Amino acid sequence: MLAKERLRIALQKKGRLNQDSLDLLARCGITFRIASNALFARCENLPIDILLVRDDDIPTLVMDGVCDLGIVGENVLLEKQLYQYNNGHSAKFNLIRKLGFSCCRLSIAFPEKVSYARVQDLTGLRIATSYPNLLGAYLKDHHVRADILSISGSVEIAPKLGMADAICDLVSSGRTLEENGLYEASVILQSQAVLIQSLNPLSQLKEDILDLMLRRVDGVLAAKESKYILFHAPRAALQKIQSILPCFESPTIIPLEGCDEKVSVHVVSPEGVFWKTLENLKQAGASSILVMPIEKMMR
Ligand code: PRP
Ligand code: ZN
Repeated sequence: MLAKERLRIALQKKGRLNQDSLDLLARCGITFRIASNALFARCENLPIDILLVRDDDIPTLVMDGVCDLGIVGENVLLEKQLYQYNNGHSAKFNLIRKLGFSCCRLSIAFPEKVSYARVQDLTGLRIATSYPNLLGAYLKDHHVRADILSISGSVEIAPKLGMADAICDLVSSGRTLEENGLYEASVILQSQAVLIQSLNPLSQLKEDILDLMLRRVDGVLAAKESKYILFHAPRAALQKIQSILPCFESPTIIPLEGCDEKVSVHVVSPEGVFWKTLENLKQAGASSILVMPIEKMMR
């Protein structure tokens, strides 16, 4: 098959999104054998190719139509989009799914000894960042004038070197900030991985592959959050329990051998189940509660 008849997806070569993106595709049954340092790989069982590139290049590859799809962090995508607009260009693509992984935030951080109370405290400061357009938009929205120092990496070192008073960088676990004696003062953007599509029209064949892929992506995303929950409960408590537990359809109720007042309840919950919910269930009379992951789901 000609390469142009294969759906082409841009993925991050290395970094926070790489493994998660490949895992998502694998869970969708789209698998690749990737030689080390390869920039390109062919799917073994579907007409799909991946291009492994720097995350910063993914929006451009999709906007230019070099790739049909891309998986990228909203942080990179929005920064690129603002950069394009600020330079008089358009930035067009379709954001077709939020993928719920590689979650992080773009935050302003200060050295531990410096206090911060409100956005006006940024006035006149020098802030180092790799996201000058997002930071610029944030400052403008809040009518604050500050000096943006645009650097492409190791932003967290800038205050120590006396290059900046504060930084604006990605935070996930918070470890990088802590290791550099900084604290997170204010979140300016929440980010997660998203799937974007080029505006170039797809051939019918590619359209069909995309539909198949999206059905599977939706199945994986729905299954990831959902849990299969089993427990015993007094019949009299069932109504109360249903109000505690969100579920897709009516629960399955199974009688228990030799016990009339209690039943076994099976529920698929569309959300993750927190300890608090389990405690509420227990308080309502449930016992022997099991929460199990769901691998795939098609509704
Ligand atoms: C980001 C950011 C920090 C780190 C924060 O870099 O620049 O270095 O992640 O994560 P933590 O809070 O869990 O310590 P990233 O790995 O995204 O690389 P890049 O900015 O060079 O693309
Ligand atoms: Zn990057």
